[in-house]
Amino acid sequence: MEQYVIKGGNPLVGEVSIAGAKNAALGILAAAVMTDEEVVIENVPNVRDTRVLLQAIQGIGARVKYIDEHTVRICGGTINPHADNCVDGEYVRRIRASYYLLGALLGKYRRSTVALPGGCNIGSRPIDLHIKGFRALGADVDIHSSMIHAEAQQLVGSHIYMDVVSVGATINVMMAAVLAQGKTTIENAAKEPHIVDVANFLNSMGANIKGAGTDVIRIRGVEKLKGTEYSIIPDQIEAGTFMAAAAATKGDITIRNVIPKHLEAISSKLKEIGAIVIEYDDAVRVVSNQRLRSTNIKTLPYPGFPTDMQPQMAVVLALCEGTSIITESIFENRFKYVDELFCMGGKIKVEGNTAIIDGIEKFTGGNVVAPDLRAGAALVIAGLAADGFTVVEDIKYIQRGYEAFDEKLRALGGKIATVETDKEIQKFKLKVG
Ligand code: UD1
Repeated sequence: MEQYVIKGGNPLVGEVSIAGAKNAALGILAAAVMTDEEVVIENVPNVRDTRVLLQAIQGIGARVKYIDEHTVRICGGTINPHADNCVDGEYVRRIRASYYLLGALLGKYRRSTVALPGGCNIGSRPIDLHIKGFRALGADVDIHSSMIHAEAQQLVGSHIYMDVVSVGATINVMMAAVLAQGKTTIENAAKEPHIVDVANFLNSMGANIKGAGTDVIRIRGVEKLKGTEYSIIPDQIEAGTFMAAAAATKGDITIRNVIPKHLEAISSKLKEIGAIVIEYDDAVRVVSNQRLRSTNIKTLPYPGFPTDMQPQMAVVLALCEGTSIITESIFENRFKYVDELFCMGGKIKVEGNTAIIDGIEKFTGGNVVAPDLRAGAALVIAGLAADGFTVVEDIKYIQRGYEAFDEKLRALGGKIATVETDKEIQKFKLKVG
């Protein structure tokens, strides 16, 4: 099993370029099969989740061809509309976004069957709102043998109120509604940048979606969608992770290929604790040359502070002067990394959905296990900021969402390697001293 071995203590310095947004890519790749024509998608991040979803898309008969590492051509015209087109498999069950094929195939064929979603274990992750939305459009939805099946004689536009702000439900229902008859309104919709990106992509295929990025999305159904070429937005969370890495290691990183507006919640927290954040048109530079100060953070739907940045910022705050409080208001089980940080000297106490963080001067290297994708990235940052050596196990979670993470960190001066055996760990230790 692959692990990262890290020698900490080096400030990360230099430039890094950010990949396409994983969470936008997952919606867009699924939506690409909604036309029989060819779709070319650029800036697709080369991460495990997108590769698994592309395999699933191929598995139901679509043609998928990589033009280069980040550009994919997809043709949904080869899917047999009369076959079962059941989306299942060992890997599909592990990624959450396979459920986007429910909305996409339901919209196109009026029928879809997808394995119940997996994804990171960060608390109960219900899909009741997705189902409520499909039912409101006229679909029958049932779950049996760990499969969700949705079917409709016809899909008819509707007024749907989301009881909770949900990224997944907003995208899924939006996709199905694009090919429903008449008008659909989604109220209390999520406003994340990737919602806008998926909507822009669908509109470039001929859909009629207005209001994405606000909490009311209005969709006028169209008969069919056409081929398009589209480039995915940069990954806000990958960018934020490098921003946190600069702050935690007292580094100086220029993060290129970003949309600074999408990073505002992260930038303003970093400024508040004393880091220097300079915004350019499509880059952001984070400099940290002093001990940073504590603050409080509450995760909220966009434009609030993203829950996907909560563990990485906890690592930054763990090294700040004073006591910080993080309130996690989106997922209930997102503090599992705290036990791992404890092994590295972290002083964090969890009470319900709150983490109380007493700042320490330095982490000390240790052997830790990545509990999920973002927490895994946070542990890597802690390792890079720590005295001594850290081994992070279960990096398969990190590889789900970060492209060439170790490579990018090495280019910034980070001492990190991917290894599989103790012998390789020893070799790394000898090499870096
Ligand atoms: C997406 C992101 C994930 C991010 C999360 C919140 C993808 C592939 N994943 O996950 O990285 O952490 O948004 O920004 O884009 N909920 C319900 N019923 C539902 C659906 C959701 O109650 O049917 C609740 C969830 O339990 C959670 C909240 O809504 O408390 C937000 O979840 P949601 O936005 O749906 O997260 P995901 O789409 O799963």
